[in-house]
Amino acid sequence: MPKITFIERDGNHKEVDAPVGHTLLDVAWANKIDIEGACEGSLACSTCHLIVDPAWFPRLRAADEDEEDMLDLAYGLTKTSRLGCQIKVTDDMDGLVLSLPKEVRNMML
Ligand code: FES
Repeated sequence: MPKITFIERDGNHKEVDAPVGHTLLDVAWANKIDIEGACEGSLACSTCHLIVDPAWFPRLRAADEDEEDMLDLAYGLTKTSRLGCQIKVTDDMDGLVLSLPKEVRNMML
């Protein structure tokens, strides 16, 4: 099973198992990574914002227009930002590194 590393807001690196076919948001939730995902993957928020390691960014399937539009609303947008609910784990993602953005717009508070 691919292993993915999340870099948490405090700089802690957390390596987790990422089942193929699950979204990065699912994987984060399953491992108690502090990410909100307010709309639960229906592309109606930007609280599943993740920053992809620059070396990995070009290796992921590009974001479609709907994801791009929603990403524009994310706080702390970077050139390698993606929405975690829109990326499904594939076998070739072993070693993928993702950072949590420093700031988030929390929809539930
Ligand atoms: S969880 Fe809302 S867009 Fe990803």
